[in-house]
Amino acid sequence: MLIGDVHLQSPFAVAPMAGMTDTAFRRLVKRHGGCGLVVTEMVSSEGLVRGIDRTLEFAEFTEEERPVSIQIFGGDPVKMAAAAQIVEGMGADIVDVNMGCPVPKIAKHNAGCSLMREPEHAASVIAAMTRAVKIPVTVKMRAGWNDTEKNAPTLAKMVEDAGAAAIAIHGRTAAQSYSGTADWDLVADIADRLAIPVFGSGDCIDADQVIARLRSGVEGVLVGRGVLRNPWILAQAADLAAGRTPREVTLEDRGRFLLDYVGLLLNERVREPEGFRHFAPSSGSHQPPATSHDRWVINKIRALGSWYTKGLDNGSHLRTAINGTESIDDLRELLGEFFGVAGEPVLMT
Ligand SMILES: Cc1cc2nc3c(=O)[nH]c(=O)nc-3n(C[C@H](O)[C@H](O)[C@H](O)COP(=O)(O)O)c2cc1C
Repeated sequence: MLIGDVHLQSPFAVAPMAGMTDTAFRRLVKRHGGCGLVVTEMVSSEGLVRGIDRTLEFAEFTEEERPVSIQIFGGDPVKMAAAAQIVEGMGADIVDVNMGCPVPKIAKHNAGCSLMREPEHAASVIAAMTRAVKIPVTVKMRAGWNDTEKNAPTLAKMVEDAGAAAIAIHGRTAAQSYSGTADWDLVADIADRLAIPVFGSGDCIDADQVIARLRSGVEGVLVGRGVLRNPWILAQAADLAAGRTPREVTLEDRGRFLLDYVGLLLNERVREPEGFRHFAPSSGSHQPPATSHDRWVINKIRALGSWYTKGLDNGSHLRTAINGTESIDDLRELLGEFFGVAGEPVLMT
């Protein structure tokens, strides 16, 4: 599949998830296969333009994640165009615009899903960006603001006309947040009417559902929470799409994944070869976070753990135990014991 001139080897993608889909996590998912595209956590256009270190870190990615889409949020066409140029300068393959975030902190600044309430303005943001960069500009939106403003079909066409190269739609309204279910009929209907690729998003928890959604008429499927629970879901969907039995994931595989994630997070911004990681040009020191790096790693595993342990036997015990760990050694020992993984992690870079 093509987004602009960017070739995707698979129609299955990791959805952007703030706080969760960092570069280390994306790398690991990618290594397990079946993943055609990764999207970064949303990044503030304002922060990019002002060169704020913390913002720039969210946009970092590595070569092995390609093709990579960096998602930005904001509502000012000029700043969004400037931010798109920074993203392009970083070497990203695609720049994506967040028109789906319902969180008031974002939406009140005329960004995220509130852009859907001003379709003309939203289209002008996309037009400004497509004029400013050569890489494809894509949009991720919701079904609409609420049940009476379900305008994704109109807005999708408007942003296509403004130059968007692809669109992803999470089939819930902002008012729904994450309640109810995603409206995939709406998404398939939009896919049917547009010439550009349309990705659907929402509620795919196992590989069969990913395939069923793909067959409903969209060009691609973005998987969010399903990847946090099962990072192999895209690989399993690719197996099914190729007529193979989906690969089995053992408890040991699951433990190895978490230990590998710990290993990658420990190495973040510490021992990476030059040219491997893409920084924004105006970015400063790239020091590890001010709090202890180990503490940051433990917090990351806690955050993933709350999704990853869902449905596991004794998952709630593991969650509690992870939350109680104070050192990396304790964390590794705990994970090793719970999942029955012997030895040191092998994927350390
Ligand atoms: C923890 C979390 C963070 C998210 N952050 C973003 C984000 O930064 N940008 C975005 O467009 N969507 C974000 N989303 C929405 C997802 O990309 C996705 O559209 C939504 O979760 C529905 O798909 P799912 O049921 O497969 O999770 C987030 C979702 C979750 C659960």
